[in-house]
Amino acid sequence: MMDREELMKILGAPLGDLATDRELFAGAVEVRNRTVGDKVYLRGLIELSNRCRKNCLYCGIRSGNSGVDRYELTDNQVLAAAEYAWRSGYGSVVMQAGERTDDAFTDRIESLVRQIKSLSNNELGITLSLGEQEREAYRRWFRAGAHRYLLRIEASSPELYAKIHPADHSQKRRLDCLGFLKEEGYQVGTGVMIGLPYQTIGNLADDLLFFMASDIDMCGMGPYIEYPGTPLSGVQSPFTRNERLQLALRMIALLRLSMPDINIASTTALHALHPRGRELGIAAGANVMMPNLTPAAARGNYRLYENKPLQDMDLRGFNVALENAWGDSHHFVSRRSKARASTERRK
Ligand code: 5AD
Ligand code: SF4
Repeated sequence: MMDREELMKILGAPLGDLATDRELFAGAVEVRNRTVGDKVYLRGLIELSNRCRKNCLYCGIRSGNSGVDRYELTDNQVLAAAEYAWRSGYGSVVMQAGERTDDAFTDRIESLVRQIKSLSNNELGITLSLGEQEREAYRRWFRAGAHRYLLRIEASSPELYAKIHPADHSQKRRLDCLGFLKEEGYQVGTGVMIGLPYQTIGNLADDLLFFMASDIDMCGMGPYIEYPGTPLSGVQSPFTRNERLQLALRMIALLRLSMPDINIASTTALHALHPRGRELGIAAGANVMMPNLTPAAARGNYRLYENKPLQDMDLRGFNVALENAWGDSHHFVSRRSKARASTERRK
């Protein structure tokens, strides 16, 4: 197990040439292949709505941004995306949205979770990424059939957290929520942004130690990318965009070496900084990708940061695992994925 000093030494090594990290990445891939296997797991991402009650200083869909067209997918759109994921052999979907805590929202999510379970014969796994909620909401959604939850800590340092959020956003509350989720029985994922203004190499080493101490099941980390007009976009990051990409890859590799059997996502933000960013994430030790299944018309409005890719990456060339729970479904799955690959080619 690496200690803080060793983590900092690797994270703090000179940046600029990805080739200098080749051994680190290869070591992480070797550990991944030996523990969770060499397959990339797909989660279909459905971005339900960009309405959010929070006002995080870095985020494009913060409540204070009046320049965003707010949208809400209809139930039918959500169910159609989930059904598509199921028929394509995806093991699970991730339902993500800005944070809302009103009763209508809680009820609607509960009902959508139930309907997705039933349309997929209980097979499709459901991951939620819906922010901080009352324990009761987490409990109801879990009972309805959701079994994983993503809630990024964003920055584990309380000081850094305070600098990138308005004063009424509480890191303690977020930590409490992570605790509730675990107690309610979810597989819990968290993560941070990499290359934030004010962030230090020491902060990043501490983020990794935080993940280990919290014994997380999943992690999604990505480079921070300015969104024009947000308060944080006016503050210079200590790292260039290329450096953030490289640091994010180092974080993925170090986390894989430290927590060999967790699921680590290769995130869209990597893709936003490099045309093959998500491939690089996989080559640094990640094992999960989340192709976007949000209906195209709404996609452009779910912009957390600049240059968020609207087009999904090409999955050919990946050793993709389509985990369908039916024992006899392998034929079905490969048939569907072939059909899908041929539609992709026609686009
Ligand atoms: N750059 C990178 N990631 C961002 N997120 C929000 N805003 C940005 C940004 N400007 C991330 C946060 C959030 C996730 C859904 O998107 O980490 O948890
Ligand atoms: Fe809302 Fe999440 Fe953006 Fe914060 S980061 S404003 S909680 S969508």
